[in-house]
Amino acid sequence: TAEPDLKGRHVVVSAGGTREPLDPVRFLGNRSSGKQGYALARTAAARGARVTLIAANTGLPDPAGVDVVPVGTAVQLREAVLKAAADADAVVMAAAVADFRPEVYATGKIKKKDGQDPDPIVLVRNPDILAEVSADRARSGQVIVGFAAETDDVLANGRTKLARKGCDLLVVNEVGERKTFGSEENEAVVLGTDGSETPVPHGPKEALADIVWDLVVERLG
Ligand code: PMT
Repeated sequence: TAEPDLKGRHVVVSAGGTREPLDPVRFLGNRSSGKQGYALARTAAARGARVTLIAANTGLPDPAGVDVVPVGTAVQLREAVLKAAADADAVVMAAAVADFRPEVYATGKIKKKDGQDPDPIVLVRNPDILAEVSADRARSGQVIVGFAAETDDVLANGRTKLARKGCDLLVVNEVGERKTFGSEENEAVVLGTDGSETPVPHGPKEALADIVWDLVVERLG
C-alpha cells in the first residue's frame, strides 16, 4: 500500500476528451480515452486524497472512493473544474480539451443538399481552463499541473506552453494516432517552473501518475 502522503488533501483531476457538438448526432472530438486521468485519480485516492475526477466522455468505470463528475463539452468541463478547484490543494488537467468549438449548434441534423457544396464549419475559441485556474488561484499554495500533448519538438513546445499557461508543472507527452491515446502506457518529461526536468521512462500510466503526485507533494510542503 502507498504512503498516505495526500491524506487530508483535496485534489481535482480532469480526464478524457471534450466533445463539441455540431448537431444532435455529430461532434468534434479527440482520441483521449481518459486512462491517464483515471490513473491519476486512482493513485491519489490510494495515497489518501479526497479526489474529484471531472470525466469528459470516458466510458470508464468510476474508480472506487473517487467523486466522479461527468461532463461533455469544454464549457461544461470549465464549470466543473472551477467549482471543484475552489477548495482544492491541487488541480491536475489531464483532459484533452478542444481549443475551438463550432460557432453554431444546429438543433436539427445537418442535411446534405443535392448538388450543393457543404457549408463551412466556423469555429470559435473555447476558454483556456488551465490558464484560468493558474491565473486565479482559488487558494494560496495551490499546486496546478498541466499536460501537454505534442507531436513534435516536444520539449521546446513544452517549455513555451509551461510559461504561457502559468501552471507549476507541465507533463509533456508525445501523442499520435497509436501513441499514448488509449494505451496502458505512457512516457513523459515533467517540466517545473523552477527549471526542473523529470524524465519518466516508458511504463504504466500509474507509474507516471505516482511521479506527478511525488512532485505535487514536494510543492505542497
Ligand atoms: O486519455 P488517454 O488516452 O490516457 O491519453 C492521455 C492524454 C494524451 C490525453 C494526456 O496524457 C494528455 O496529454 N492530456 C492533455 C491533452 C491536451 O489537451 O493537451 P494540450 O497540449 O492541447 O493542452 C495543454 C493543457 O491545457 C492540458 O493540461 C489541457 O487540459 C489544458 N487545456 C487545453 C485547452 C483548453 N482550452 N483548456 C485547457 O485547460
